[in-house]
Amino acid sequence: MYPSCDAGTEIVSETLPKRGKNLVGQFLLIAFAVMIIGMFAMGTWVSWQVRESVTEVKAASIALSINNFVAPHLQELAYGNTLSPERIHDLRRILERPDFRASITSLRVWKPGGLIVYSSERELIGKRFPRNPNPEKAWAGSITVVFDGLSYEEDKGESAMGVPLLEVFAPVYEAETGAIIAVVEFHERSDALDAELVESQWQTWIATALITLNMMGCLFVIVANGGKTIDLQRAALTERVAQLSALLDENRALKRRIERAAQNATEDNERFMRRMAYDLHDGIAQLIGLALLRLDKVRGSPDDRGNLKAIQKALSDALKDVRNICKGLLLPEVEKLSLKEALMFMVRQHERRTGTSIKCTVTNLPDQTPHFVKIALCRFLQESLNNAFKHARGQGQQTDIAWDGTTITIEVTDKGPGMCSVDSKLQESGLGLAGLRDRIESIGGIVSMKSAPGAGTSI
Ligand SMILES: Nc1ncnc2c1ncn2[C@@H]1O[C@H](COP(=O)(O)OP(=O)(O)OP(=O)(O)O)[C@@H](O)[C@H]1O
Ligand SMILES: [Mg+2]
Repeated sequence: MYPSCDAGTEIVSETLPKRGKNLVGQFLLIAFAVMIIGMFAMGTWVSWQVRESVTEVKAASIALSINNFVAPHLQELAYGNTLSPERIHDLRRILERPDFRASITSLRVWKPGGLIVYSSERELIGKRFPRNPNPEKAWAGSITVVFDGLSYEEDKGESAMGVPLLEVFAPVYEAETGAIIAVVEFHERSDALDAELVESQWQTWIATALITLNMMGCLFVIVANGGKTIDLQRAALTERVAQLSALLDENRALKRRIERAAQNATEDNERFMRRMAYDLHDGIAQLIGLALLRLDKVRGSPDDRGNLKAIQKALSDALKDVRNICKGLLLPEVEKLSLKEALMFMVRQHERRTGTSIKCTVTNLPDQTPHFVKIALCRFLQESLNNAFKHARGQGQQTDIAWDGTTITIEVTDKGPGMCSVDSKLQESGLGLAGLRDRIESIGGIVSMKSAPGAGTSI
């Protein structure tokens, strides 16, 4: 009900850390690194693809033109592993053609098992070179191209020339059946092709670099704009936090002022009630007492005696009421009592006044409690017990008082008729419950009430 320490909400009003620029820098650094790596990967892959495609196209076109000339002279190989001297002569004549002489450095005709049945290098004819796998691939029907692949025994002579060569292996088909009857291998000078490839690779790299630079530029502009927006938003947020902090400080000051005012009001109220009790007691009660004394001496005529008795009865009732009111208005000198003593005094006083008994449990309570808190808690207990007596005829009155180190809880329950719409009773402006709620809220506490028709009341 009454928290013994203020657990107010805190807004951290430090300036927000300036991370916007760092973030932009980090993002750009990582993005640029990724893009440069991507550019190299892309450039390498594209130039490799270009090289492969250009080579294949070139090889296929050479294979086609050579085959046009060579294949008709190799048809005998459909029936054996040797060529007649006429066919060998024909082949030599073909290779003498100026266009072939300029580009083709050698020609070989393979049969299965690595057997060379014809070669422009005469010493290779009739020899077997089974280690070279490329003729086997051509036997499977595909044209195989090798760049500078002169690494086999049969290539020794040419590799000594030191000229860049393109090795092409192509199947030779029988004209009638379309069956592969031999594999033709020829070597073409690749200086021109090499130059072409280098140029196309340069073009590829330049295009990739330009695209990457373009992307980096766009990214930089986007991220720089994003960074500016972050900076603006951070500035706005810092300003907002500062405003909220100022507002919070103002609220705290206001809350302290209200609490001080409420405390003063509680104490002033108490002083006023005490003075009123003394005034009632010393003024009206004394006057009524005096009137009663005087009445005792009045004999009156026999006709007046009935009236005199009635006046005497009314005056002594009024005196009793005034004295009761005085007792209700006067709190014990709570300043001198501990909280526990003051609350127990209220319970005992209620029992005495009403002639009822109250079941009471109480734990240890703080030794030092501000005066205004004691007053508020005593008045709370007094009004709750008065209600339990007045509206529940004191049935099952119980008081539980506890302190858990931070909060004091006081619960007053009864087993009376209870009520409906508890909240509206607490909201009603007037004395009783509404005043009780105001008192408790003025010391930073809360009042809650549970009740239902026939189920008693707990506050
Ligand atoms: N313990 C209770 N049991 C049943 N009804 C209750 C109890 N306490 C309060 N009430 C209901 O709530 C109403 C408001 O209570 P409140 O203490 O404000 O006024 P009151 O007791 O009637 O008058 P006052 O306290 O000013 O002498 C009561 O009139 C009563 O109907
Ligand atoms: Mg009441």
